[in-house]
Amino acid sequence: MAAALVCGATVVMGQNKIVLHPENAKQTISKDIYGHFAEHLGHCIYGGIYVGADSKIPNTNGYRNDVVEALKALKIPVLRWPGGCFADTYHWKDGIGPKEKRPSIINTNWGGVTEDNSFGTHEFLDFCELLGCDAYVNLNVGSGDVREAAEWVEYITSSNESPMTQLRKQNGREDPWNVKYFGIGNENWGCGGNMEPEYYADLYRRFATFCGGAPYRIACGATADDPNWTEVLMKKTEKQHSITQGLSLHKYTLPINTWTGSKGSATDFKEDLWYSTVSEAWAMDSLLDLHIGIMQKYDPNNEVGVIFDEWGCWYDVEPGTNPGFLYQQNTMRDAIVAGMGLNIFNNHAERVQMANIAQMVNVLQAVILTKDEQMVLTPTYYVFKMYADHQGAKMVPTDVQSNKYTFEGKSTKTICASASEKDGVVTLTLVNLNPNKGETVDIELGSTPAKNMKGEIVTAQKMNDYNDFGKAEKITLKPFNSGVQKSSKGTLKIEMPAMSVVKLQFSNNKL
Ligand code: AHR
Repeated sequence: MAAALVCGATVVMGQNKIVLHPENAKQTISKDIYGHFAEHLGHCIYGGIYVGADSKIPNTNGYRNDVVEALKALKIPVLRWPGGCFADTYHWKDGIGPKEKRPSIINTNWGGVTEDNSFGTHEFLDFCELLGCDAYVNLNVGSGDVREAAEWVEYITSSNESPMTQLRKQNGREDPWNVKYFGIGNENWGCGGNMEPEYYADLYRRFATFCGGAPYRIACGATADDPNWTEVLMKKTEKQHSITQGLSLHKYTLPINTWTGSKGSATDFKEDLWYSTVSEAWAMDSLLDLHIGIMQKYDPNNEVGVIFDEWGCWYDVEPGTNPGFLYQQNTMRDAIVAGMGLNIFNNHAERVQMANIAQMVNVLQAVILTKDEQMVLTPTYYVFKMYADHQGAKMVPTDVQSNKYTFEGKSTKTICASASEKDGVVTLTLVNLNPNKGETVDIELGSTPAKNMKGEIVTAQKMNDYNDFGKAEKITLKPFNSGVQKSSKGTLKIEMPAMSVVKLQFSNNKL
């Protein structure tokens, strides 16, 4: 039981409470935390984003009109490409020039299917320009060489005369693209070459040195809880901060924590797998603390950012689909994990410079699913839409006191929250991850104005509700105002339904 001020009176209560500290809002939440990832995997690129100019599916220069429009509404800040594991098999010169001359290759990581290279550097970077987002290009370290990587950077970024810029111009692009982020390999401890951290760290230094035209170089980081990889990388690049701006981190949320057996169905699950998923999602918080703690030793001034460039839920593929395509549906459980992940990243704004949900369309925890000419916006899509106001805002520190969500004797915190301030508008996002019970939350706003409040919610009737093709949406963004009690002295009480993601905004001016 804890004491709190409600309506100016000290009362004793044993429930959720959030205290905002707008006076301590100093750290900017990088807009790139709201980033996405598109790999040559299943129908993420082909069929999802790109159908080719001759397709009967309405498109502009091959990009699906429906998908582009939906993505624009998300205000996507940055997109990572071409992988993932695919990046360390990708030779960029296969994907430039006249399409009929581009070689077809085998996508060895993802289903062994033919990759015709019709979507390459120009198609990707033009797509980013169409969305108005930054590009993050992942270079090939595993099966490529330094010269190939350096030439790609030059082809993309240089405005000087050189064989590479000449080639770019011949291929129809006069000016360089404005690309900031370059990754030096992907999962080089696994699909990117099964390397030891010491070996990779040396390779990183070499690649990063010769890819000097890349403004922001990202070293391959650890998988989830491998502190040794982070330790070695930070130690071996300690004196090279000028060539290392970011260190990546990957963490997937699996209901059943195994890479070899069943991970559980995306839609057909009961509360045991809901519980294991949401409690596993909390691990993103502790993992960040673990890796940031190590980085702090070698980089106390936060010069190297955490680039959380793969995260999200990973389940068994939908029955009857290619196991190599990682196609899965997306329920209210995914909305909860999306809201938690974004809150956790916001709360680590001092170090997390980017995060990229895996993946944008049709793969893993996608914001969009497509089937031929049909498109579905997933619950995860609506959470990203709801949270977009945090992009580039100042993070408002919060103290969160949370009830427990208990299942069969195990328990976890039920409320996960973050807050920010931009242009006089304070945005608070909260997740109640209990699927059975609504929660009352007391909120102390500090100097935040309690007037002009506006709210939105994503919730569902059932925990495995999802949006399906050709059917009315079961989960979408709705206004949230019921259950909000305003009071004097900047104190509020809200009633969050079971399994809900809520946004509240406050301002001195009308919202
Ligand atoms: O996102 C799917 C795969 O997961 C990526 O290709 C790889 O980096 C990770 O193991």
